[in-house]
Amino acid sequence: MQDKQYLMIPGPTPVPPAVAAAMSRPMIGHRTDDFAAMHKRIVERLQVVFQTKNDIFVITNSGTGGMEAAVANTVSPGDRVLALVTGNFGERFAKIAREYGADVDEVNFGWGNCVDLKTVEEKLSANRYKVVLATQNETSTGVINDIAGIGALVGKTPALLIVDGISGVGGAEIKTDEWNVDILVTASQKGFMVPPGLAMVAVSQKAWEVVRDNKSPRFYLSLPAAKKSYEKWNTAYTPAVSLFAGLDAALEMMMAEGMDNVYARHKLLCGAARAAVRALGLDLLAPEEAASPVVTAVKSPAGVDADEIRKVLKKEFGVTFAGGQGILKGKIFRIAHMGFADKMDVIIAISALEMALARIGYPADLGSGVRAAQQVFLGGKR
Ligand SMILES: Cc1ncc(COP(=O)(O)O)c(C=O)c1O
Repeated sequence: MQDKQYLMIPGPTPVPPAVAAAMSRPMIGHRTDDFAAMHKRIVERLQVVFQTKNDIFVITNSGTGGMEAAVANTVSPGDRVLALVTGNFGERFAKIAREYGADVDEVNFGWGNCVDLKTVEEKLSANRYKVVLATQNETSTGVINDIAGIGALVGKTPALLIVDGISGVGGAEIKTDEWNVDILVTASQKGFMVPPGLAMVAVSQKAWEVVRDNKSPRFYLSLPAAKKSYEKWNTAYTPAVSLFAGLDAALEMMMAEGMDNVYARHKLLCGAARAAVRALGLDLLAPEEAASPVVTAVKSPAGVDADEIRKVLKKEFGVTFAGGQGILKGKIFRIAHMGFADKMDVIIAISALEMALARIGYPADLGSGVRAAQQVFLGGKR
């Protein structure tokens, strides 16, 4: 039995020692100056990551709670909502809006494809929506969507653009203000390298006009209630204090690395993972132009259940990849290179994958994937 574990799923992601240490500090009261100072520091750094001047609420929830907060505060029964769906999480956003009574126009671009801007343009010119829902990084397929392009279109209309950046933010650049993102939602357990439990929600001025008058019921997820406390660097209800401390430490690391370097690192890891997969003769789900920098989805070879490969990886090598979700269950596996991940993580992932493929009888050329990744890391010089 393998004791050492290598967690390579797109959330929760590995927690760096500095973040774990910060979370184990003695508890502090949340109605104190110390907490307020930490809260302020967190928000100011999140504003750097989000590239926004907007308020950012850190709420004690998983990411879905942040998505629901965005919907509950902007969607009232009967409102027209355009949902741009590219996989499991886009479908979830549409479902939440439907639960709140919205009249949802759900456009499914297909699992593995990205949002087609021409379609968005047509939809926006033929309809009047209150809200447009989009996913920055569709974790279920390893596809990144063009939020800049979507924002340029939605920004010309009265509709609010609400973006699920839960697995993207912190690994893939997002320019909240420049790209007209009215509400951006993300969570702690992915690019931010913190355990699950915090959602972050940035709200634009345009969104506030809608939020204030929205008719849907909201209490724990009320943004106006959050705003009242936020003015004093407080939170409406008891926050997950230890996770705040972890987020504080993680943001310190991100600022020290520099966000441009953080994004370049994720792109490099993505390039290496994709080169390795190709060298092994396997197919990638996402096309090159929509490849997620934080998670790579790989099609299982014909006749092989992807979950069989994952079982061998876990049992023999202690490596955990994510499986396929929904219609892709058993058809793909997903390798995360998200958050606290670097070159050697990709080498381990690919090396283990080669051995697992060999174990199940797939004619993998041992070392060919690793070599391709190494070549990317060496700048293609060998
Ligand atoms: C893009 C995306 N949206 C939403 C979620 C849901 O977040 P949570 O599981 O934290 O509620 C996830 C989690 O995997 C995600 O990757």
